[in-house]
Amino acid sequence: MQTNLQLISSPHVRTSIKIVSTLNESHQSNHQQQPLSSGKIKRLVLTQEGRTKLNIYPDRDFYSYPRFVTHVDDGFISTLTNLYRERLRPDTEVLDLMSSWVSHLPSDVKYKRVVGHGLNAQELSMNPRLDFFVVKDLNQDQRFEFESCSFDAVLCTVSVQYLQQPEKVFEEVFRLLKPGGVFIVSFSNRMFYEKAISAWREGSAYSRVQLVVQYFQSVEGFTEAEVVRNLPNAQENKSPIGWILRLFGLLSGSDPFYAVIAYRNFKPILDD
Ligand SMILES: C[S@@+](CC[C@H](N)C(=O)[O-])C[C@H]1O[C@@H](n2cnc3c(N)ncnc32)[C@H](O)[C@@H]1O
Repeated sequence: MQTNLQLISSPHVRTSIKIVSTLNESHQSNHQQQPLSSGKIKRLVLTQEGRTKLNIYPDRDFYSYPRFVTHVDDGFISTLTNLYRERLRPDTEVLDLMSSWVSHLPSDVKYKRVVGHGLNAQELSMNPRLDFFVVKDLNQDQRFEFESCSFDAVLCTVSVQYLQQPEKVFEEVFRLLKPGGVFIVSFSNRMFYEKAISAWREGSAYSRVQLVVQYFQSVEGFTEAEVVRNLPNAQENKSPIGWILRLFGLLSGSDPFYAVIAYRNFKPILDD
């Protein structure tokens, strides 16, 4: 099946016109008869310039001390937790990429194994959901020592903007996922500006979503990416009173929520 991609007019993002989409929902019933796709990188999304950061020092230095903060507000976290509840099955194996001291997994759901990854061991050691964790700079090395097909789900929360080699990271996630496994990439409009890549910093909300969609499309075998948005301010912004209150700092807006989701090879049908 052919899919038209939307063109992004940014000097930091390569554009493409068409790709062949991989197995999607309409194919899931007969996926076992189909050859499962390879997970190879088909094309690079970012230009060299798009990968650059204002702070050029190693990311490990930036994250050398723990930050025991939450990076997004309660509304964002609750939307994300609900999404996890909906998409992740209990008793499965989960890898939380670029994680910290907090988990956004539903606290009442039991998973078989939750592995964390990040850059600060002190933060990760405080995360109550992790069975164990790995410290690795993904901008230096994108390969994990886990065997292929180790996880049912891989998560990346409010961190994708720091990846300078996203195509290789998405390729590695594909390798780590079991067929039918899901990769959920969520983000808002907040970031450590100096550490976000140029293609992200200089983008809009729309282009950032498209960027993550393109990261998925760059790897052969991911299903067509789904986009989930929850923009709490969209309604409030229309009210003149809300606008005035916000102008004087009397009403704080909520963090917009975006998630881009795709599956390795096919999207399974989950039981209720
Ligand atoms: C904004 S925090 C988000 C933490 C967590 N996902 C959450 O939802 O609270 C960004 C995280 O990305 C991780 N990170 C940033 N650059 C990284 C890199 N080059 N390699 C691996 N992890 C990185 C840091 O360890 C940090 O925990």
